[in-house]
Formats: sequence, structure tokens, C-alpha cells
Amino acid sequence: MKKVSVSSLLAQKKANQKITALTAYDASFAKLFDEQGIDILLIGDSLGMVLQGEETTLPVTIEQMAYHTRCVSKSVQTALVMADMPFMSYATPAQAYDNAAKLMSAGAQMVKLEGGEWLLETIQGLVQRSVPVCGHLGLTPQSVNVFGGFKVQGREEEKAQKLIDDAIALEKAGIQLLVLECVPTSLGQKVSAKLSIPVIGIGAGSHTDGQILVMHDMLGISANYMPKFSKNYLIECGDIRQAVCQYKEEVRNGIFPSSAHSFE
Ligand code: KIV
Ligand code: NA
Repeated sequence: MKKVSVSSLLAQKKANQKITALTAYDASFAKLFDEQGIDILLIGDSLGMVLQGEETTLPVTIEQMAYHTRCVSKSVQTALVMADMPFMSYATPAQAYDNAAKLMSAGAQMVKLEGGEWLLETIQGLVQRSVPVCGHLGLTPQSVNVFGGFKVQGREEEKAQKLIDDAIALEKAGIQLLVLECVPTSLGQKVSAKLSIPVIGIGAGSHTDGQILVMHDMLGISANYMPKFSKNYLIECGDIRQAVCQYKEEVRNGIFPSSAHSFE
């Protein structure tokens, strides 16, 4: 199969073909997901929670992100490899450039940053320096202490409009992909329709251009609780390869997420 790229993902959006994504943190799972045809593998800073047992993603360091990015990128042939910039690693544009370089050297093809308007200069600078950027709006877990918990975002009219404005501004600044987390289905639909770049949802309803899940959630092995928007595919399939394949097929065919896995 041909290597997935920012341009092939854009072509998928235009052709109405849903994009599939999973988190991955090591070479073995990354290889398995890649072989099953998952389009994007994200080295998420969720590794703080699912690998390290932390309560939040905040303690994760850039060195840890680079280490896991190296582990994943080594074994991937087809999927696009994307890595999270961890908490406070992009507080200023200069810090963002230094730290993005560490992830790109470790084999990432794209980096992901959480936030809206305040990031515009940083995003422009990264793109000018040849680092492809994915935005992340809605429930941005690095801001959990500001939100006061892991809560659905954009329920109020005013906040929904602010999120749409942020998404448009990020696209203008140069992001080539957007992750949208834990927002009402109607807002996920609006943002995906307004942007020309692909929008990958998690708890953002079925109208986004693609879906992403944390691998530990979709395999039902998370140490913590199972989020409403996730689904345990291993319990259905009894086999990891089949579980991943089933997830891919259900996303492609619009079966996942159903309303049971979405917020209205
Ligand atoms: O860290 C992560 O796993 C993520 C996804 C949930 C999008 O950012
Ligand atoms: Na993340």
C-alpha cells in the first residue's frame, strides 16, 4: 500500500472516504495496526495515562514522546505517523520549534498541538519551517485543570461559535488536519463542513471526516474507566487483529460512532 500523507488524507476527505486513526506507542502494536490498514497512528500524550498510570497527560515529557515516536515509526510502512507535543513544550514559538524538531527526528511526519487562537503564530512558524501541524480543539486534555474535569465542550451557542472561529483561524494559519474531541454531534458536523482540511473526531459524532480512538480503550484494557465515546472491539471479536479490522470497517461504513457513542 502507498504511504499515507497529508495530501492522500485530503483526497480521502474530498472523496468522502472516512479516515481511520488509532493511538500507538510501541513497535509491535504499531505494526499490527499498520498491517490492518489504519490510516493514521498517533503517538498520543495519552501515554501518560495508559502507559504510565498518571491521572492526566500533564507529566509527559518531550523526551518520552520522542522515545515512543521512535518505537512506532520504526515499524510503520503505510500509516501517517503523528506525534503529540506534550504540555508546555510549545509555550512559545521558539520552544515549539526545538521540541517539534525532536519529534520529527524521531520519525514523526506531523505534530499535534492543543489550542486555538493563541497558537496561530506558532503554527505559522512551524509550517514555514516544514513541520506539518495537526490542531486539536474541543476537550483538550492538557487544559483539564482549566476546564475543571474531562467534560464535553462547546455545548453553549457562544462557545460553539468560538470553536468554529478557532478552527477556521487554525486552518488559515496552516494546519493540515484537525482533531476534534468531545463535542456535540451537530458541532462536529459544522466544523467538518466549514473546513477544507480533514477533521478527525473522538466523541464528536459520526459526521467528521474520520475517527480516532485510544488503543487501550478500543481493546478494553484501559486502567481507568471506559469513555462513553469509545467502544470495546476486542470483547466482540476476541482477537486483536480482527478487533482493529472491525473498527476500521465500522468507521468506513459509518456504523461507528453510533448515537450511543456520541453527545447530542
Ligand atoms: O493523546 C491522545 O491519545 C489524543 C487522542 C485522544 C486524540 O490526543
Ligand atoms: Na493527546
